[in-house]
Amino acid sequence: MEILIRDTPEEVALAAADIVSAYVRRALPGAGCVLGLATGSTPVATYQELIRRHREEGLSFAGLTAFCLDEYIGLPREHQESYFRFIRDNFTAHIDIDDAVFSPDGMDPQPWKAAQRYDEAIREAGGIDVQILGIGSNGHIGFNEPGSPLRGRTRVETLHPQTIRDNARFFENDVEDVPTHAITQGLGTILDADHLVLLATGENKAYAVHSLVEGPITTSIPASMLQLADKATVIVDESAASMLREREYYRHREELRPSWLGPDMRPIED
Ligand code: GLP
Repeated sequence: MEILIRDTPEEVALAAADIVSAYVRRALPGAGCVLGLATGSTPVATYQELIRRHREEGLSFAGLTAFCLDEYIGLPREHQESYFRFIRDNFTAHIDIDDAVFSPDGMDPQPWKAAQRYDEAIREAGGIDVQILGIGSNGHIGFNEPGSPLRGRTRVETLHPQTIRDNARFFENDVEDVPTHAITQGLGTILDADHLVLLATGENKAYAVHSLVEGPITTSIPASMLQLADKATVIVDESAASMLREREYYRHREELRPSWLGPDMRPIED
């Protein structure tokens, strides 16, 4: 697992945008590239930077496909707080991805079937190349709460009371309005992606970041399953890094990173 520590949230966004841009630029015509997109406030600055690169530097997403990580059950797509709408409003409506953006159907009367279909759709698209992730203050990823199966597929999850409290800010601070259930890519589904890129900023994420990077792999901290990934990059600001015991080593390791390794952790070919 690679740990990148940056001074500010803005620099976290730049580092994440560098990784995604490398995948987007390498996408071969016809072969495409599949992006995995997370909601939450943390990745928004990364999406803004990618939109800027699209507008000002010609970064093109044409021919690419994107899959959202999760969706609330019971919110129609057009609802202001649906994750489908969030991703569209904050990112994909502003780039040339040609409407190839998918999300679980939170209005399906049989959500468990919608979850299975979604998992199959990801597989049929060839799997996700680069998956952006945030982290909940209790260590959840997507909506995989403590106790989630480490190899689970896309499924229905009950939101933890802490997650409901954390997310109430998007629902005028009324916990009663936060949906109680969601469809989320499972931890096994997430682990199938080629490259996991987890972003965290702010002190309230420090314990979760420490646990995911330096604690045991445990379903109590669902994000700790990143330790099993072949390619995972955790990008944090100073505050979110504040509880990492080995932060000096992570800095040192980044400084010594070989120059032939690109931001997507693949060798740069001539
Ligand atoms: C929600 C999402 C997660 C996200 C988390 C943290 O629960 N389902 O994917 O990582 O919020 O969000 P934020 O970045 O706003 O702290």
